[in-house]
Amino acid sequence: MKKIMIAPSVLSADFSRLADEVREVEKAGCDLIHIDVMDGHFVPNLTIGPLVVSAVRKVTKLPLDVHLMIDAPSRYIAEFRKAGADWITIHVEAEKDVRGVLKMIHDSGAKAGLSLRPKTSVESLSPYLSDLDLILVMSVEPGFGGQSFMPDMMRKIESLRPKFKGLISVDGGIDPATAPKAVAAGVDILVAGSAIFGKSDRAQAIAQLRDASKHSS
Ligand code: DX5
Ligand code: ZN
Repeated sequence: MKKIMIAPSVLSADFSRLADEVREVEKAGCDLIHIDVMDGHFVPNLTIGPLVVSAVRKVTKLPLDVHLMIDAPSRYIAEFRKAGADWITIHVEAEKDVRGVLKMIHDSGAKAGLSLRPKTSVESLSPYLSDLDLILVMSVEPGFGGQSFMPDMMRKIESLRPKFKGLISVDGGIDPATAPKAVAAGVDILVAGSAIFGKSDRAQAIAQLRDASKHSS
């Protein structure tokens, strides 16, 4: 059985004590730290910039999985990489020259990911599959934590799985009840915000997600 990676999304963390929050989930054995960058334009919410990414970089050795929900992300690749991003994911809807930005990410030394909104078809990723390290399938409308999981999105994962050799991540509404559905569809990475940072015992929350991911069928 393959190991499923857990990526806590700091969007649901207590930002007044972000360093402690990140150390706590690292100690609890998570695999990546997921950081949601929003520009108030591609999505309605405004969140994190390179300054906060570099602050997180100082307190953990875990890979930083930076999810850019911003228009024209080519403008900021170098800055996020400099701030310490190891994985940089852009949205296929957010950029005209998708291949050019993926190359820019790779040239910066980071791993490149591509994400898609729930309404965007999986075929929109087809031209780029060989350029990608990661596909991030959104299982909620991007913009906010704490929304309900969209089970129909699992079909996208099922159709990508045989065609794509890289990692597939699922983001939105993941908790111990929904995680098994995503694992059964073929994901490698579970991103979870409220199901981890919304619980007082983060170690237990991560353990419950791990446990749930072993019961996928
Ligand atoms: C939503 C973000 C998610 C968010 C997930 O646009 O991309 O990473 O933090 O939050 P939960 O796990 O609470 O749905
Ligand atoms: Zn995200």
